[in-house]
Amino acid sequence: MHKDSRIFVAGHRGLVGRAIRRRLEADGFANLILRTRDELDLCDRAQAEAFFRAERPEFVFLAAAKVGGILANSTYPAQFIHDNLAIALNVIDASYRAGAAKLLFLGSSCIYPKFAPQPIREEYLLTGELEPTNEPYAIAKIAGLKLAQAYRAEYGFNAISLMPTNLYGPGDNFDPRNSHVLPALLRRFHDAKIAGTPEVTIWGTGQARREFLHVDDLADAAVFLMSQWDRPELVNVGTGEDVTIAELAELVADIVGYSGRIRFDTSMPDGTPRKLLDISRILSLGWRPKIALADGIRSTYKWYCAQAMAPVEQ
Ligand SMILES: NC(=O)c1ccc[n+]([C@@H]2O[C@H](COP(=O)([O-])OP(=O)(O)OC[C@H]3O[C@@H](n4cnc5c(N)ncnc54)[C@H](OP(=O)(O)O)[C@@H]3O)[C@@H](O)[C@H]2O)c1
Repeated sequence: MHKDSRIFVAGHRGLVGRAIRRRLEADGFANLILRTRDELDLCDRAQAEAFFRAERPEFVFLAAAKVGGILANSTYPAQFIHDNLAIALNVIDASYRAGAAKLLFLGSSCIYPKFAPQPIREEYLLTGELEPTNEPYAIAKIAGLKLAQAYRAEYGFNAISLMPTNLYGPGDNFDPRNSHVLPALLRRFHDAKIAGTPEVTIWGTGQARREFLHVDDLADAAVFLMSQWDRPELVNVGTGEDVTIAELAELVADIVGYSGRIRFDTSMPDGTPRKLLDISRILSLGWRPKIALADGIRSTYKWYCAQAMAPVEQ
């Protein structure tokens, strides 16, 4: 990529797209092409084709997707499979037809088999049954990965795919009804601190292990791979380290300044005991995550407080 390359960041208002945009702008890429969903519905093939014909982006970061937690996935399975299939098909096909030099597609660690051996290597994709609660989403995402590989194999189109672990950071979703565990804990401890609640209850034993990557590290990896990786194999992007939910809760409570008790409701399920990516492939290319978990949570909490217009107290 050159500083004046025409770069389309699809989904630039989302958690990932926003971080990629921040990163590209900070690096001096001055020719970004950005559209909101209202301006360009990537589920609509005719709109996508017309846009790519007119704008002719050279590089495409495909961070537009329909994303959500268990509740949203199980309430809207048709929308999850439809939108993600349509976005992947329309954007990959239109990029190729309009002569784009390269496209980066985003998979996710949650589309690996539910019982994959740990840490999860890229070749474990499609070796076992999927997590049933997000199967329609996972099938659509896997179709996107396969489209990227097939367009490379048949047409020589330079499409690459990343498999990010759980992400967090500024721009995350803090809605208590459907947020992921890290922003959910930040918000719950923040609210409990403000309300003076003496105890916060967390589902499960606290012993499940999870990996978290700051979204700015993911954006760094995406830009790195856009310039360094021209192969069909997937690339896991994570930290290669995990923490228990109990350790995470202690860390978040400490950063938020919540001094009440943390109770674990062991009658509730833990989910998969461990979900950790094997990141040896991207490490061997010379990339490393840079943001330590505590630092990332601290800056995300500051961002949250600024958004919520709440006092930032440590
Ligand atoms: N968040 C994670 O922890 C995580 C982990 C692993 C992988 N990923 C992957 O990263 C990608 C982005 O996730 P995210 O967390 O950034 O999602 P997000 O915050 O929900 O953002 C999704 C973006 O997609 C756009 N979009 C959705 N439908 C569209 C359509 N039909 N046409 C045009 N734009 C559309 C939205 O645009 P508007 O803002 O205009 O509505 C939004 O900006 C996904 O592929 C996801 O699988 C995320």
